[in-house]
Amino acid sequence: MEKEVTDDILKAQIALNRLPKHIAIIMDGNGRWAQIQGKARVFGHQSGVQSVRDITEAAAEIGIEYLTLYAFSTENWNRPNDEVNALMSLLVKTIQAELPTLNKNNIRLQCIGDIETLPEATRLELLDAMEKTSHNSRMTLILALSYSAKWEIIQAVKSISEKVSKGLLDADSIDEALVADELATKGIPDPELMIRTGGETRISNFLLWQIAYAELCFTKVFWPDFRKKDLFEAILDFQQRQRRFGKTGEQVESF
Ligand code: IPE
Ligand code: IPE
Ligand code: MG
Repeated sequence: MEKEVTDDILKAQIALNRLPKHIAIIMDGNGRWAQIQGKARVFGHQSGVQSVRDITEAAAEIGIEYLTLYAFSTENWNRPNDEVNALMSLLVKTIQAELPTLNKNNIRLQCIGDIETLPEATRLELLDAMEKTSHNSRMTLILALSYSAKWEIIQAVKSISEKVSKGLLDADSIDEALVADELATKGIPDPELMIRTGGETRISNFLLWQIAYAELCFTKVFWPDFRKKDLFEAILDFQQRQRRFGKTGEQVESF
């Protein structure tokens, strides 16, 4: 069957009134995808850019409001220098090349992570694209770059303790909303659906606070092969699930 036909058939089955507002994706498997073909790992990262385009377009097309993509973790700094450098320059090139498309599609670019640690060229390109897309309103694309959930939580704890020690905040008033406001995702609703490609069934320090009640979807498909159809399938699977939030199934059904 034609690829577009399959996409459309799956898309038509999605209940648009029960879409997750926010989908977060751990884009994994680039290196293995390339190595299986006898190619260098970097080729996998380069090929993964097409999946980013495809998935961003698909998410915007069906009305997802927030899409977070895990592009580079704090731990990824420990990879060989050549791979880190290649990833950083690929980021600059991709952000530059995609800026007109983001604007054309009315997509706002944001970023979570310790961007101070990024090479200057990458950081400046990113800040420029964030600024130039800041008025777009159809969907927010959030890149997690030099990000780890533990880093983010430490930042939040530091900021809260400082406010308490300066007398600006009463420790007794600390609640979920206050903690959420100190995270890099301030103002962004928690993802209802978290997808990891590449076959591993772990979280790898991604959005630990925010995915407390997310539905998790693990697929063996390597990121460079992940296409619209795979995203639509994950959403359809999500829509089959009963989200109970601690209640009984009967309570949720009668709601
Ligand atoms: C994900 O693919 C991209 C990054 C972590 C930057 P990997 O590079 O982790 O690919 P695998 O998991 O080694 O196949
Ligand atoms: C997680 O993938 C980080 C990103 C996708 C950016 P990794 O490949 O780095 O995770 P581990 O090492 O398998 O846990
Ligand atoms: Mg990996």
